[in-house]
Amino acid sequence: MSDRDERDFWDRRAAAWERRADALSAFSDGYGIPAMDALHVERGEVVLELGCGPGTTAIELAARVMPDGRVVGVDISPAMVAAATRRAASAGVSNASFVAVDAQTGDLGEHFDAAYSRFGVMFFADPTAAFANIHRALRPGGRFASVVWGPLTDNPWMFVPTLAAAQVLEADLTIPGPSEPGPFSLAEDGRVASLLHEAGFVDVTVDIVTDSRIILAATADDDVCTLLEVGPLGEAFDAADANIRQVAVDSVLGAIEPYRDGDAWRLPGSALKVTARRP
Ligand SMILES: C[S@@+](CC[C@H](N)C(=O)[O-])C[C@H]1O[C@@H](n2cnc3c(N)ncnc32)[C@H](O)[C@@H]1O
Repeated sequence: MSDRDERDFWDRRAAAWERRADALSAFSDGYGIPAMDALHVERGEVVLELGCGPGTTAIELAARVMPDGRVVGVDISPAMVAAATRRAASAGVSNASFVAVDAQTGDLGEHFDAAYSRFGVMFFADPTAAFANIHRALRPGGRFASVVWGPLTDNPWMFVPTLAAAQVLEADLTIPGPSEPGPFSLAEDGRVASLLHEAGFVDVTVDIVTDSRIILAATADDDVCTLLEVGPLGEAFDAADANIRQVAVDSVLGAIEPYRDGDAWRLPGSALKVTARRP
């Protein structure tokens, strides 16, 4: 995908991400909060957030640095930036602002105390250039922390529902190669650490974080819809008629049956918590 295609793709998905932001956060916090904690942000600091999406994490970061600190969330998608701006305004958060910019090539500003990203740094066509750009945006001694997905095979929450629904939706499912831009581009052993070292970062750590996506029996259809709307089949799912959508949901519920645990399904996932520092 070109940078423009990447931007257009996320622009088209922004409404679903905004609509499902609370559910997404409930699911992603198990991975994102450990990375945010590892950033050790303090009151008064100025924090850059990369690939901020609909703004839930920027609001959490803003609370951690208030009253004097602030957060600048950047995203390649103007529609995501608009969603994040709306969310921060309706939460009464005044120390978070949002800018539409490509984190890979754009001017991110300078001298941030810290940079954070939850699943927002795996989509770069040129990750070497992107991490050098992020490095440049930090002050000397500035910290970086992010969470990125581990290997696809360690993430049944993603591939089991997606494969089941793809058949029903007759959707073209292109799985990017291991180092091509996409959710799993930084999953390969050693890749994210070597990219960060190449960009000039030191004190690089990479730790596995595991958690589960929980689908509750009581809200199963809606939970599966969330999963499909914000996943790789989002556009095909949105475009399908109500009957086909229901068949897709039922097919997912059938496919995840092995993960049933009482009144819920627990779909395992695995991510990498990454920290580093600009010397
Ligand atoms: C998987 S979503 C994560 C959103 C948010 N961080 C969250 O956890 O809810 C990835 C986000 O990264 C953004 N993104 C993709 N490529 C980007 C780039 N080159 N520069 C900045 N943002 C980018 C997308 O627009 C999208 O909002």
